[in-house]
Amino acid sequence: MMERPRVLELYSGVGGMHYALTESCIAAEVVAAVDINTVANEVYKHNFPNTCIYPKIIEGMTLDEFNKLDFDMILMSPPCQPFTRLGTQKDVLDSRIKSFLYILDLLPSLTKLPKYILLENVKGFETSVARNKLLQTLENCRYSYQEFLLSPTLVLEQFPDLDSMEASDISSFSQTLSADDNNMEGITADCCANEIKNGRDETVLYKLEKIRHVKQKQSQDNNSSTQMIQDFLEEGLQDPSPYFISTKSLLRYALILDIVGQTCRRSVCFTKGYGSYVEGTGSVLKTASDVELASVFQSFETLSEDEKLTQLAKLKLRYFTPREVANLHGFPPEFSFPEKISLKQRYRLLGNSLNIHVVAKLIKLMVE
Ligand SMILES: C[S@@+](CC[C@H](N)C(=O)[O-])C[C@H]1O[C@@H](n2cnc3c(N)ncnc32)[C@H](O)[C@@H]1O
Repeated sequence: MMERPRVLELYSGVGGMHYALTESCIAAEVVAAVDINTVANEVYKHNFPNTCIYPKIIEGMTLDEFNKLDFDMILMSPPCQPFTRLGTQKDVLDSRIKSFLYILDLLPSLTKLPKYILLENVKGFETSVARNKLLQTLENCRYSYQEFLLSPTLVLEQFPDLDSMEASDISSFSQTLSADDNNMEGITADCCANEIKNGRDETVLYKLEKIRHVKQKQSQDNNSSTQMIQDFLEEGLQDPSPYFISTKSLLRYALILDIVGQTCRRSVCFTKGYGSYVEGTGSVLKTASDVELASVFQSFETLSEDEKLTQLAKLKLRYFTPREVANLHGFPPEFSFPEKISLKQRYRLLGNSLNIHVVAKLIKLMVE
């Protein structure tokens, strides 16, 4: 390995890649972080005051500017909306991916090709035209490369030594994950074994939940090698009131909320709409540990609005706080937001970020 690689962090956001690099224990220096989002840049600066931030659009940077940075490694998280299931799926036709195509165009012309490139994106990217263009560019520049489709829980708990695995292990492992991830999509509830009635997998239990979903969640929650949600919660949260879910949202979305308890060992992915939109943006926390979901949702449809609200109130549901989402994403305790960043902005920025522990392992694997 080279002595102290110079790292260019593109689409740097709040610095998830920078934290992952630190966690990987690779002695490297981030020579520039580039992002157009001024709020993200403020948070980045707050946490990494000594790193040079370029508050620019990437496609506005010249080849000369890139060459002057003299970097050995690129860490980047291009926008994912062109590829997500809930996004546009316009792929290379989405204007948000222009900057990435610009990087691909520019790469072969650099005076010095970076030795390492790590790109992080969402499920959906692996089948995109953008990905094919990336691979073509890498091949033209004679890079060797590996691709992974990973789920944090499985990487961190079942394969803690990702770095010591052979490439062949990882690709078959990725295939398995891919299938699992498909199954995971759209799951919307907690589990309760005694609700399984006639053993048919498609039977809807309470809360739109099907038996196979319940079973899957049960097996995840029973996997004692995964940490419990309670390990990620803020201790002695002073004022939980900003995090309680509005009555309107509760009534409207009760049946599709992904509700997790403190002893669960799973959640759905937290995305940037968390706290503002309910559907598919992240799990919510049941803080009443002694109340079973089944007791609240049984015959729910037949209740009046007031009765529904009375039932739902028993669960004492709240959103995870930004600190808790950061904990779930593996951000270290020293990560913080400047005071003036609003709650909504915090959720947006964290939802755009990544899992630090997983990326740290990948950086290590790439460099070592
Ligand atoms: C998926 S997020 C990456 C988040 C980052 N990895 C983190 O840990 O917070 C994409 C980031 O790219 C930035 N971005 C999108 N298009 C850009 C462009 N053309 N030039 C510079 N930054 C851009 C967005 O502002 C956003 O912060």
